[in-house]
Amino acid sequence: MDAIVIRGGRPLVGEVAISGAKNSALPLIASAILASGRTTLRNVPVLRDVHTMGEVLASMGAAVAGTRVLQIDAASLKRPEAAYDLVRTMRASILVLGPLLARFGQARVSLPGGCAIGARPVEQHLKGLERMGAKITLDEGYIEARCRRLHGAEMTCDMVTVTGTMNLMMAAALARGHSTIENAAREPEVEELACVLNKMGARVHGAGTAVISIEGVEELHPVEHAIMPDRIEAGTFMVAAAVTGGDVVLRGCLPEHLAAAIAQLVAAGVSVEPVADGVRVRGSGRYQPMELVTQPHPGFPTDLQAQFMVLAALADGQSVITETIFENRFMHVPELARMNARIHIEGRTAIVRGPTRFKGTTVMASDLRASAALVLAGLAAQPGTTTRVRRVYHLDRGYERIERKLRGLGAQVRRVREA
Ligand code: EPU
Repeated sequence: MDAIVIRGGRPLVGEVAISGAKNSALPLIASAILASGRTTLRNVPVLRDVHTMGEVLASMGAAVAGTRVLQIDAASLKRPEAAYDLVRTMRASILVLGPLLARFGQARVSLPGGCAIGARPVEQHLKGLERMGAKITLDEGYIEARCRRLHGAEMTCDMVTVTGTMNLMMAAALARGHSTIENAAREPEVEELACVLNKMGARVHGAGTAVISIEGVEELHPVEHAIMPDRIEAGTFMVAAAVTGGDVVLRGCLPEHLAAAIAQLVAAGVSVEPVADGVRVRGSGRYQPMELVTQPHPGFPTDLQAQFMVLAALADGQSVITETIFENRFMHVPELARMNARIHIEGRTAIVRGPTRFKGTTVMASDLRASAALVLAGLAAQPGTTTRVRRVYHLDRGYERIERKLRGLGAQVRRVREA
């Protein structure tokens, strides 16, 4: 198992290229199931989760080739079944359910089960598919779904769900008749999926708003598409620039996808300015405390909550961070406390008392974004102190070559193999 070792106290300076968005790549790979023929995705981030999604399709018989440029041909897909061994390693595998059902009239997908950040049930996905005429049973830990042809339906999600909205949108694209999804997720990744479905011949309107309407079509054709930049990777590098008092240009970053996060940075005293093809972020070293509540897009993203806690810990005074999306997304708190942070949890709220002088030590990553926060704390730690972040396989699920990108900005970071 690998660990990442960081010597603290170096301001990050220079330029970093933001990779393609993981949470767009995953549904786009699943959407290839809907088309007859070869889909080509460009700017695909080279990440463990993306590889796993490719494996899920390949395990069903689809032809999947490439990494940065990924080609998927579902013509040879014979077994519409996603097995537990793959699904348990990545919950987003559930994204194949809607496309399989719409295209083949049947699907067998392992129930994902819980994960470190919460229980994460999928009943909204199933409820919507049932409204479109699917017969769904749960058997031995598997979702078994069947239908003749899905029909259009009016669906209202009980809560905003990103992959739920995506699954229903993909299924409705090939259903007979008109569908609406109310209380839909408005994340940029939902918009990008709708855009690709429309390129494939679908008729999806309203993605990016809370009501999506879909006119089902008879068939979809394969397309070529370049994936947008990863807003969460970009947000993470923004915090890295801030907490090290650095000066970093993020190339390829789309600031309009990060409005809530950038507003928090600016209010805290970080300089964020648009430059050609990106954003320049400069830290000052002295920050105002923040009040932050995670919300579905366009609110502040839960996927940046852990990273912003590191900035909050450096601020002069008390910050209040409330997590409303996942019930257990404060796993980084006890690890940050081991590096000197003073954070008190009350239910869904973390009270962060700054300023902290982070000091390096050995810490344990628990999930993807918590791991990123620990790396950031290591970068911000007192000069000469060393942080060892263990179990970095979590980090590899969502950050492409993070240690190389950080080294390119002057950080002292290396990956070591542990027994
Ligand atoms: N929920 C239910 N029932 C459902 C669906 C969702 O109760 O049927 C709950 C969840 O348990 C959670 C909330 O609704 O409390 C929101 O969950 P959502 O379904 O939106 O999450 P997701 O689609 O499983 C995606 C991202 C996550 C990101 C969340 C929230 C992908 C592949 N994953 O997950 O990304 O945190 O939306 O924005 O798009 C990450 O990249 O680190 C990550 C966890």
